Amino acid sequence: MPDPMRPRASLRTAVVWDVLQNTLDHRVKTTGQAQLDVLDTGGGSGHFAVPVARLGHRVTVVDPSPNALFALERRAVEADVADRIQGVQGDALGLFDVVEPGGYDAVLCHGVLEYVDDPAEGLRNVIGALRPSGVLSLLAAGLGGAVLSRALAGHFAEARQALADPEGRWGEGDPVPRRFTVEQLTALVQRAGVRVSAVHGVRIFADLVPGALVDTEPGAVADLLRLEAAAAEVPAFHSIATQLHVLGEKEAEA
Ligand SMILES: C[S@@+](CC[C@H](N)C(=O)[O-])C[C@H]1O[C@@H](n2cnc3c(N)ncnc32)[C@H](O)[C@@H]1O
Repeated sequence: MPDPMRPRASLRTAVVWDVLQNTLDHRVKTTGQAQLDVLDTGGGSGHFAVPVARLGHRVTVVDPSPNALFALERRAVEADVADRIQGVQGDALGLFDVVEPGGYDAVLCHGVLEYVDDPAEGLRNVIGALRPSGVLSLLAAGLGGAVLSRALAGHFAEARQALADPEGRWGEGDPVPRRFTVEQLTALVQRAGVRVSAVHGVRIFADLVPGALVDTEPGAVADLLRLEAAAAEVPAFHSIATQLHVLGEKEAEA
């Protein structure tokens, strides 16, 4: 979904979108189903749900925010995919009050686990919504990226606080309730019965580079996108990424 009209916005989504699109295409080929059932938990206003629906899939978005669901509805109409997107008010912790367990080929959980009161239970529910061998796309805030960005901004005490804090928060003013290391995130996924097929670092450089460098140099955004894509799968860079993406497949017998 890299957006040629908004190249800076593409830096936030390009790596995850490429992985997600390839994964859904692969699932289409292996199942023989042209149209997949996709659940986007905490899908908000549809940054991923709308492009997934544009691929032809049926998408259910569960989100507790009525404002986000309203924006989703508007965006779906504008993109001409309203017939393939359903917005439902609900919470990851009460997911099966609003959707059927075991009913989805793919479940997205992007930028949500940070905010859920009990991430292990939230993730178990998210995975419980998958069909056997269904795919999980999990995106969550990375600890190392936050430590690095606080340090590079000169907030050394906050960087050290984030390192020491069990939730990875840099202080009272930190808007993110929780961050994860790769080990924490993959352990949560595995304990919930999903095999990890890939881990990607997301926004490894993009949040550290001064905006002026990216906005004024011709071709800089495209080069930075290529650099992000090249580094995303290199484990050495995962520990400094702003976000971590885990792709998984539900055990067939789980
Ligand atoms: C950072 S936004 C991410 C939105 C979207 N997934 C994306 O990637 O653009 C976090 C979303 O999680 C939702 N959220 C917060 N707590 C939640 C919970 N307990 N269960 C499900 N969604 C939740 C918020 O309403 C918000 O839409």
